[in-house]
Amino acid sequence: MIIKTEQERQELKAIGQIVADCVKYMGEQLKPGITTLQLDRLGGEFLADHGARSAPQVMYDFPGFTCISVNEEAAHGVPGARVIHEGDIVNIDVSAERNGFFGDTGFTFLIPPHIPAHQHLVDSTNQALAAAMKVARAGAGINEIGRAIAEVAKKSGYKTLRDLASHGIGRSLHEYPEAIPNYYDRRDKRRLEKGMVITIEPFLSTHSTSTQTASDGWTLITKKGNRSAQFEHTMIIGDHAPEILTKPSS
Ligand code: CO
Ligand code: CO
Repeated sequence: MIIKTEQERQELKAIGQIVADCVKYMGEQLKPGITTLQLDRLGGEFLADHGARSAPQVMYDFPGFTCISVNEEAAHGVPGARVIHEGDIVNIDVSAERNGFFGDTGFTFLIPPHIPAHQHLVDSTNQALAAAMKVARAGAGINEIGRAIAEVAKKSGYKTLRDLASHGIGRSLHEYPEAIPNYYDRRDKRRLEKGMVITIEPFLSTHSTSTQTASDGWTLITKKGNRSAQFEHTMIIGDHAPEILTKPSS
């Protein structure tokens, strides 16, 4: 959406804060031995306690409140019996709706012990998000986002998952300007506008450039042994730096 009023901005800020704090809360409960189902229930309770509804549930009948993707799973992981182990890479992506407004955020957690290669992947993905937010301003080509992400990925020795994308958001989970690729598409002539609400969510990976849908019909998996990371913010585009709506409370 393109925001027009201060009230819309306040509603988006409110739901952005809820999803950001939900991911932070779930991250604090993330320890070896917990199942993704247990973790998801905690997230679902958090959302309900804050007057919000899981967006994947409302929009797509997703079988869970949140998406929890472990190791070779890249996105849309269905919560279930999977047990978290030491050394896992866990992505928690929470999107939710309140009063007709949507927020969406994701964070990749590393379960100790520390693995330097995993840390580098996560740090590089964070850098890609920062680089993309730097070029995301009113008037810029939408393809500058993918260009910035791809540059950081390449420089850091990673690939990007090309079938996963950032997106417009606001009155719906996925809306105008729809998919914003993780790579540079020179034919994409769309431009960012002042007040446009979008997510930026780079997916960097060690080997894979695309995902496949698992037998559960939801979870997007990559090649055996592949590891990926994603960080996602919802933001409002402006003349300068975007206004991030999904920073967790400190
Ligand atoms: Co998300
Ligand atoms: Co998203």
